[in-house]
Amino acid sequence: MTKFLVTGSLGQIGTELVNTLCDRYGKNSVVISDKRVKCDSDQIGDCECVVLDVTNAKQLSDLVQKQKITVIYHLAALLSATAENNPQLAWDININGLYNILEVARENNCAVFIPSSIGAFGPTTPPEKTPQDTIQRPTTMYGVTKVAGELLCDYYFKRFGVDTRGLRYPGIISYKTLPGGGTTDYAVEIYYEAIRQKKYTCSLRAGTFLDMMYMPDAIKAAIDLMEADPAKLIHRNAFNVTSMSVDPEKITTSIKKHIPDFTIDYKIDPVRQRIADSWPNSMDDSAAREEWGWQPDYNLDKMTADMLKHLEDKLKVRSGYNE
Ligand code: SER
Repeated sequence: MTKFLVTGSLGQIGTELVNTLCDRYGKNSVVISDKRVKCDSDQIGDCECVVLDVTNAKQLSDLVQKQKITVIYHLAALLSATAENNPQLAWDININGLYNILEVARENNCAVFIPSSIGAFGPTTPPEKTPQDTIQRPTTMYGVTKVAGELLCDYYFKRFGVDTRGLRYPGIISYKTLPGGGTTDYAVEIYYEAIRQKKYTCSLRAGTFLDMMYMPDAIKAAIDLMEADPAKLIHRNAFNVTSMSVDPEKITTSIKKHIPDFTIDYKIDPVRQRIADSWPNSMDDSAAREEWGWQPDYNLDKMTADMLKHLEDKLKVRSGYNE
């Protein structure tokens, strides 16, 4: 029987992935874990929930053996801006945590999903339609851990036969759980503030183009990749995937179709701006499309309509937007 372990289950992607996995495979097939002791049933359904610090190899190994885990979705990690503020902690969680996951997977014959990121690229990477295989010299600790993670996953597949698979996620936009400490967080906050205040002060400057993706597509991509025919996977561990390349102005234009008096101004966060400037403007995800049939369901306007509809319900504020 397939039994899933999700690390970082209380994070932005984790909270939604565990619900999908529980719906799809049954709650007895999913073990939810997070370092934070907060198994809130509203947030994460009624799957089994355990406290797990991925930097604690023994705790991880005991859990995997006890629960007879066969597939690990390893989402526990620090995002880019937080990592830049605390590079030592970022190394510990993002690298030592991943190493522990790969070792436990090797010892217990588990498949592993690992998210990489647009952050695995750097200022010398071709910024437009960034190819799948290209220069990767990131200038952030987050990026260093992501490139090292991609290589480590390749190594564990080639050397030990561990079934490692991964995606280079863009910024992920969602209405259920906030991201924390990412460079792309503005693209979530802007929708909250559009509903709450009809105005938003953005930490990245206009014209800062980055890839983004709506959460349903991010979840679909992870599950589809893990269920793909392994014989077809040439790039196992770090598929470029994207749904849209947008800047703050493009998102503003999309929101204004629903909230015409929405306005944006700018107060640049130098750390986040420097990080964003070092990342691609748009990625080429043709390898994912060819090797396992990746296809996003949401473009910017479809995502905006859905975000605003759900956030209005969640925040219970009449914004006056016309859907
Ligand atoms: N969303 C992430 C961040 O901004 C990028 O992978 O850190």
